[in-house]
Amino acid sequence: MSPSVSTSALFVFTAVLCTDICSQYHFGNDRDPLHQKYSYFSESERLRMKEASRDMFQFGYDGYMRNAFPEDELDPIHCRGRGPDYDNPDNININDVLGDYSLTLVESLSTLAVMGNSSEFKRAVKLVTEYVAFDRNSTVQVFEANIRMLGSLLSAHLIIIDPRQRLGDMSVPDYHDDLLELAHDLASRLLPAFSNTPTGIPYPRVSLTEGVPRNCLNETCTSGAGTLVLEFGVLSRLLKDPVYEAVARRAVTSLWQLRSNVTGLLGNVVNIQTGEWTGTMSGLGAGIDSFFEYLLKAYILFGESSDLKMFNESYESIKFHLRRG
Ligand SMILES: *[C@@H]1O[C@H](CO)[C@@H](O)[C@H](O)[C@H]1NC(C)=O
Ligand SMILES: *[C@@H]1O[C@H](CO)[C@@H](O)[C@H](O)[C@H]1NC(C)=O
Ligand SMILES: *[C@@H]1O[C@H](CO)[C@@H](O)[C@H](O)[C@H]1NC(C)=O
Ligand SMILES: *[C@@H]1O[C@H](CO)[C@@H](O)[C@H](O)[C@H]1NC(C)=O
Ligand SMILES: *[C@@H]1O[C@H](CO)[C@@H](O)[C@H](O)[C@H]1NC(C)=O
Repeated sequence: MSPSVSTSALFVFTAVLCTDICSQYHFGNDRDPLHQKYSYFSESERLRMKEASRDMFQFGYDGYMRNAFPEDELDPIHCRGRGPDYDNPDNININDVLGDYSLTLVESLSTLAVMGNSSEFKRAVKLVTEYVAFDRNSTVQVFEANIRMLGSLLSAHLIIIDPRQRLGDMSVPDYHDDLLELAHDLASRLLPAFSNTPTGIPYPRVSLTEGVPRNCLNETCTSGAGTLVLEFGVLSRLLKDPVYEAVARRAVTSLWQLRSNVTGLLGNVVNIQTGEWTGTMSGLGAGIDSFFEYLLKAYILFGESSDLKMFNESYESIKFHLRRG
């Protein structure tokens, strides 16, 4: 499933990047392998790496803005913009993620703010309100649209309206909850994924204009269905409309009830119509990892003890059953 594809691609990328950086910047005691693996940065190294990260982000961001914006991302081989592959709907590697909504710009918002680049943050917010729209017949994965687009829009919105402005002045003149409205619009287009499934577990994909595509797969990975509650929960609370959090929580509860009554573990792929596990492998890898991540984060964010209880029980089952391989 696609969460696995993108996670592992990211992992490989990060690993390559890290090896590259680590050979450029020698930190710690090179000769002791344990020290090399587990030690932490000294203050001067930390500052150097911070600048290297800033340069790397700037390079990527400027390259995207120069060569690809307003398309979703920069195709690095051809150095030009890339959006959904409308000609080939089966190209899910691309289509699950790219929705013709300037994805990279939206995803960069909170990083610009964290880096303290308030002028570019404000400019980027304006560009998002000018260019990003969801009335596009793109069939995206609910999971990806949620963690990337919805999450980015909501976090930038929260940064803008934060009365304490902890990242510097990120207030935007004439801001009238524009990003929240975009988030609302997107989430309402994802809602059809949740209707008409007897289990309450969502379909993996929706068209932003046409809802669930005909012949949409009835199978979803556990992460795909159970990694929505942070964003949907924040949206519900901001809008004072409980429906988003409710559907996300119902999916989590349904998955949870399908756990094995022998091991307490969940599978990694489930049929959303029947509730049968079609992927019975459990673990902490791609396709299931963020289910657990969101249980804990949801507890930290919203304080509901049922989330912590599910996390604790999962943690115990995993520690007991998982073998190192
Ligand atoms: C903010 O971002 C813009 C656009 O990438 C860049 O030109 C500028 O140097 C950045 N400013 C700071 C202070 O990093
Ligand atoms: C929307 O996209 C789907 C899948 O590519 C296609 O079958 C459908 O005809 C499109 N709808 C419109 C109105 O173009
Ligand atoms: C999904 O399940 C529904 C209801 O059981 C069925 O009508 C549909 O054909 C199934 N879709 C696929 C792609 O198998
Ligand atoms: C566990 O579930 C299976 C299948 O749903 C059922 O047959 C079995 O009786 C259950 N076992 C226990 C100990 O509840
Ligand atoms: C979860 O585990 C933590 C740490 O072991 C413990 O402090 C907490 O009380 C547990 N909470 C629940 C709801 O089980």
